[in-house]
Amino acid sequence: MNEFLKVAIETAREAGTILQHEFEHPKRISYKGEVDIVTESDRRSEEIIVARLKEHFPAHAIVAEEGGGAAAAGAKYCWFVDPLDGTTNFAHSYPCFAVSIGLCEDGEPVAGVVFNPVSGELFSAARGEGAFLNERQIHVSGVEKLASSLVATGFPTHQRKRSANINYYWEFTLRSHGVRRDGSAALDLCSVACGRFDAFWEFSLNSWDTAAGILLVREAGGTVTNLDGGPYHPGDPHLLASNGLIHEEMKEVAKIAERAAKL
Ligand code: IPD
Ligand code: CA
Ligand code: CA
Repeated sequence: MNEFLKVAIETAREAGTILQHEFEHPKRISYKGEVDIVTESDRRSEEIIVARLKEHFPAHAIVAEEGGGAAAAGAKYCWFVDPLDGTTNFAHSYPCFAVSIGLCEDGEPVAGVVFNPVSGELFSAARGEGAFLNERQIHVSGVEKLASSLVATGFPTHQRKRSANINYYWEFTLRSHGVRRDGSAALDLCSVACGRFDAFWEFSLNSWDTAAGILLVREAGGTVTNLDGGPYHPGDPHLLASNGLIHEEMKEVAKIAERAAKL
């Protein structure tokens, strides 16, 4: 296993253990926006992760959601850290959240780890080496039709105004076995990677939400683009990840939903 992935795994486990412990105790929350929650656990998890990454890779840049990252002008490597993906779930004691740590080399994801401390599931991938759930190699599903698929989406926590994604939610619900909204984009991507979901789309995700998860999907044999089918890079405005087999159908339905959203 390469050194980057090894450190990312150890670090995600360490931060996840803190989250798991704090999950079982009362949480003190504050607000970044109208409904955008942050807990002390987000910050504690981030502190540990950033400290470990700096210790091991002092020349690397770090972008971390709660602002504790490190700039490194012209750095070849940049870590994207979501110390607690699924904060709203965590704050409401809904056990669906994760630590997500992704590494990009010249802007391309090369290592990624997503750890759910409640289930004990650790998803990991390194470019060209496959995707794993704990010790087992994982693959996307073989579902060939949207009509027999289970798909997922999410809604940004920082936006309260009308969301065009409601139209997408509706159009995909009509054409699939169902649409799930679990509240952790990193875990949604892992669910595509291991075949639980056949596709996932979302708008306005940040680089720290997706840098690890998109590598997992790709290394598990899936496809990641934007909703138009163009290239997706962490932080782009919209994302479509799928098992590859239903990608074209997903894009077609996305076009229908986009038209409906404009009416
Ligand atoms: C959020 C989760 C959620 C997604 C939001 C994200 P956070 O991240 O990933 O599933 O729908 O867009 O902001 O705030 O819990 O780290
Ligand atoms: Ca997040
Ligand atoms: Ca977060």
